[in-house]
Amino acid sequence: MPKVLFVCLGNICRSPTAQGVFMKLVEEQGLAHVVAADSAGTHAYHVGEPPDPRAQEAARKRGIDLSPQRARQVVERDFETFDYLVAMDTENLAFLCSLCSPRQEGKVRLLMEFAPGSGLRDVPDPYYGARNGFERVLDLVEEAAGGLIGHLRAAHRL
Ligand code: 4NP
Repeated sequence: MPKVLFVCLGNICRSPTAQGVFMKLVEEQGLAHVVAADSAGTHAYHVGEPPDPRAQEAARKRGIDLSPQRARQVVERDFETFDYLVAMDTENLAFLCSLCSPRQEGKVRLLMEFAPGSGLRDVPDPYYGARNGFERVLDLVEEAAGGLIGHLRAAHRL
């Protein structure tokens, strides 16, 4: 079963949103018994906290409940547990690559790789920005999550 860990900086905005959007699509496509996901942050500032209320509100409007999630920090063991560590931006990507062994680097990916039509590499950090930043995160994540599921279907014959 492919296991995916979505990773951002604080684990309260982008990666919980990505986990929620991804799992909704996974369920809609009847893949919940064969794909698993979690999320984590590169930093520990918000460990134990639920997702940012602005992220929760934006996701709720699209039928996604982020409230059960709690922030945690990436741990070394994640590189063993998960098949894909999917970074929300290039900073998160560099951080993950600095933590793992060369053997594990192939597991570290950038979310927006799975939405090649967007021409973007980063999901912009909405934490200090305007409220519509959270809508933008949802739009980008929805597009890339669909691409990621397509990749998993092909690579794992799901
Ligand atoms: P996230 O957003 O990485 O998408 O969860 C942030 C959350 C908190 C902080 C920065 C980004 N912070 O500096 O506390």
